[in-house]
Amino acid sequence: MVEKNRKYLVTSALPYANGPLHIGQIAGAYLPADIYVRYLRLAGADVIYICGSDEHGVPITVVAEQEGMTPQEIADKYHFANKRAFERFGMSFDNYSRTSLREIHYPLAQQFFTELNDAGYIIVKESEQLYCHDCERFLPDRYVSGKCPHCGAEARGDQCDECGRWLAALELEEPVCKVCGSTPEPRKTTHWYLELPKFADWLREWIGTKADWRDNVRRFCLGWIDEGLEDRAITRDITWGVPVPLPEAEGKVLYVWFDAPIGYISSTIEWAENLGEPDRWKDYWQNTETKMVHFIGKDNIVFHAIVWPAMLHGQTSVEYVLPGQIPANEFLNLEGRQMSTSNNWAVWLDELLDDFPADTVRYALTANAPETRDSDFTFRDFGSRVNDELADIFGNFINRSLGFIARYLGNKVPEPGELSAQDRELLDYVSAQTARVSELIENFEMKNAQLEVMNVARAANKYYNDEEPWARREDDPARCGTILNVCCRVVGALSTAMEPFTPFAAGELRRMLGIKEALSWEEAPGYEPAAGAELGEVKILVQKIPDEEIDRQIEKLKAQSALADDDVKPEEVTTVSEVNFDDVTKLGLVTAKVLECDKVEGADKLLVMKIDIGGEERQIVAGIAPWYQPEELVGKVIVVVANMVPATIRGVDSRGMLLAASVGDDEDVRVITVDGDVPPGCKVT
Ligand code: MF3
Ligand code: ZN
Repeated sequence: MVEKNRKYLVTSALPYANGPLHIGQIAGAYLPADIYVRYLRLAGADVIYICGSDEHGVPITVVAEQEGMTPQEIADKYHFANKRAFERFGMSFDNYSRTSLREIHYPLAQQFFTELNDAGYIIVKESEQLYCHDCERFLPDRYVSGKCPHCGAEARGDQCDECGRWLAALELEEPVCKVCGSTPEPRKTTHWYLELPKFADWLREWIGTKADWRDNVRRFCLGWIDEGLEDRAITRDITWGVPVPLPEAEGKVLYVWFDAPIGYISSTIEWAENLGEPDRWKDYWQNTETKMVHFIGKDNIVFHAIVWPAMLHGQTSVEYVLPGQIPANEFLNLEGRQMSTSNNWAVWLDELLDDFPADTVRYALTANAPETRDSDFTFRDFGSRVNDELADIFGNFINRSLGFIARYLGNKVPEPGELSAQDRELLDYVSAQTARVSELIENFEMKNAQLEVMNVARAANKYYNDEEPWARREDDPARCGTILNVCCRVVGALSTAMEPFTPFAAGELRRMLGIKEALSWEEAPGYEPAAGAELGEVKILVQKIPDEEIDRQIEKLKAQSALADDDVKPEEVTTVSEVNFDDVTKLGLVTAKVLECDKVEGADKLLVMKIDIGGEERQIVAGIAPWYQPEELVGKVIVVVANMVPATIRGVDSRGMLLAASVGDDEDVRVITVDGDVPPGCKVT
């Protein structure tokens, strides 16, 4: 339940202003937050939604050097470009600021440092770092290349792409300065470190109280703390950033991950100033009752759940609110492989919005959101989500019902008669669903929430089919009017329920119904339009995407990508994310006995078999012919996924999939069998 006397402070991770936004970022930290906030507003909560560009650090300076511009120019370029792309996408930030905002952000970030330092949470240490004599500066890890000490491949100073190991530039053999090409040398330098171990007990206790955090976040953090926290350097030897506020730290700046989250506060201060109520930000930040929710991608968990709370907790002059929830999403892959901006294997938000309406992108990304595990965006899936769901279910209901009123009923809300059992059933369902959707959104299950809203549209379509208003138009106009009056109520309810997900379409619904301001979450399910009121012009809500357009997008992606053609073939993404018990049981694994087995005519790799899965016979097809003679398998008890989507493989029907181990990348393949004497049809978990 939304707590109306509580303040909500919602943030999305500040994206680096060093490149355009891609849909992986959007699905991770932005769209779910916008859904949450739009819902909270409709539900009457006191909420502000804060974001901005993260404009400091090596991520910016590297790009600046590549593009031959200053860091400020790069930050300007992408700050405004991203701000605009977010607007086109319908993001409803209350403020979108930037961390290069000198007047507000710099002094605040410095104050954070000073208070932590004065309170004894910061320690100075000397260390060695590579220094380039020609450039006269210390080189951040990413500015160095050399040989990987583990595999000998050419590697960057922070990571070896060949063997995947994390590196420090000092470990590289034959290091080279990436800026000028000369050989850097180790030199002593001083840095300031945040002493995280001092916060360990407090953090463990605090995270211990967060029973409602997503498992991935909670377990990850507790694991980190248990492994032993280490001091973290929070200063850097570069010139772009917030200067360290100590005379002896001349020429050093705060580490970007130190100043960036403080950007959440400075953006809120800017918001308050723009409102002309400069102290208003304190109502949210200096109020421990505020519910603060940080939407992030999973790569940002440590910073938001450990370092940032420690920074807030270590402030002495005021007590800041601490993160209440940190919904961290997993990653979105693209056409079966990991998104990679360096290889241009990415879909850029701005370009996608040139070709498709924002609502369709929002809908498809939410339908496929990487909430509990990594998910995959494919253009085919995008096309079918839009065509088969958004257009055929939601768009269709609006079209046929309001279209009918326009065509036959003078485009005016018809008078309702007595409601039938069917009418009531539908309207009750709409109310129940609205409540269910609240629960899901408040639990950050945006994918399921959207699905339940679509179920309302599904039910409405079924109602329309069953009640056949077209068949009653002439002999029972009163009943026909009642049916369409009920439809208008449902359209009204949908104009609110769809608002978090597809705000542009929701606005269109309001326009067609003549609703000026969005109906609140509470009133929407009971909405009763005034009989006789004139409706707006009915327009098609969702245009279908032709197959050729999808083909074109796939071709474009392949062409823009720096990957070799061979690599572009969708490969299995090998990163496996953690699953929970439910994920495993969802698989429907059972034991099965092979009754018959044969080759498939004209397909070298396939075997077709009859199996017994415990009182039921099935046919399945498996690609294991290179490794098995059919007769070897007959009589074996194997393991199959029984709830596999039925498929037709080379013209042969398959209703299940057997499990097999691939030895040495398919040099050999061995079917999984069961130890001991086990009958078919046993559940496998
Ligand atoms: N810029 C970082 C990234 O893109 C996120 C910063 S989040 C903040 O990964 F909290 F530090 F702002
Ligand atoms: Zn150099």
